[in-house]
Amino acid sequence: MINPLPFQPDMTLEPEVIAFFDQPTNTISYVVHDPSSKACAVVDSVMDINYPAGRITYDGADEIIRTIKEKGWELEWIIETHVHADHLSAAPYIQEKLGGKLGIGENITIVQDTFGKFFNEGTEFQRDGSQFDKLFADGDSYKIGNMTAYAMHTPGHTPACMTHVIGNAAFVGDTLFMPDSGSARADFPGGDARTLYQSSKRVLQLPKETRLFMCHDYGSDGKREVRWETTVGEEREHNIHLKDGITEDEFVAMREKRDATLDVPKLIIPSLQVNMRAGHLPTDSAGKPALKVPINGL
Ligand SMILES: [Fe+2]
Repeated sequence: MINPLPFQPDMTLEPEVIAFFDQPTNTISYVVHDPSSKACAVVDSVMDINYPAGRITYDGADEIIRTIKEKGWELEWIIETHVHADHLSAAPYIQEKLGGKLGIGENITIVQDTFGKFFNEGTEFQRDGSQFDKLFADGDSYKIGNMTAYAMHTPGHTPACMTHVIGNAAFVGDTLFMPDSGSARADFPGGDARTLYQSSKRVLQLPKETRLFMCHDYGSDGKREVRWETTVGEEREHNIHLKDGITEDEFVAMREKRDATLDVPKLIIPSLQVNMRAGHLPTDSAGKPALKVPINGL
C-alpha cells in the first residue's frame, strides 16, 4: 500500500541548493538556503576518514562551513536523512562551528537498538535518540527561515530513512537513485525491498516538476559523470527499477537478487558506530576516541 503524502507541497517555493560532492564515498551533501532570508540547512554532511590509518579530517565539512560563512548565511538545521553505512557524518563538527539543530527520523531508536547490540555497547550508549536535537515523525514540519520544510518517513533502505521536502525540492537520501541507477540496497538490518518500493512510490507522488536530490551517485558504474539532481517526472519515466509500470513484486524480486551479490560497504564498521551516535566518535575505556571491529559479525 502506498501511503499518501502527509502534507501539501508548495511548488511556488524554490529554495537555493548548493551541492558538495565527496569523491571517496560518492556522497552528495547539500546546503539549502531560503531565498527570502539568511537561513539555511545542511543535509547529509561527511567527515573524512582514512580508515587504515585511523585518521579523521574535516576537509569536506570545512568547505561547507566556508561557503555558509562567505554567503553570510545562518545555519538553522543539520539534517541526516538516515544512519549512513558508507560514510561518517560531520554533523557535530559543523554544529560546533555554526550552530543549528541536528535532526533525524524517530526510528533512529530502532537502528540504535540493532547496532548497539551488534557492537556490544554498554548501557552508556543511549538508544533513545537523545544524541540528536530533533527526532522527526512522518509529516512533521519545521522552519528554515520563512520556508516550511516537511519530513516524510520513507523506510526500506533503513527503518529510519526520511525524505525532506522543502518547497519544490526533495532530499531523498537513499530512497531513490538517479534514473539510470535505480535504487539503493535494502538488505541492511531493518531494511526491506517491499517497503522501499512503497516509500519510493510515495515520493513519486510529488508533483512531476519536483527537484529530487540524491545522497549518492556512482556515475552509473563509471559510464557517465556523477550527477545528483533529477525530477519526479524523470524518475517516473526512466528509473530502471521504479518507473511507472514496474510492479512491487517485480521490484522486490530484482532488488533481493541484486542485494545478494553486493559486498559489505567498505566503511560500514566505522560509519555505523559514529552515525548512530549522531556523528560523535565512540571512546575506549580511557576516554580516547576509538572504533571497534566485531569479528565475523556481519
Ligand atoms: Fe544509505
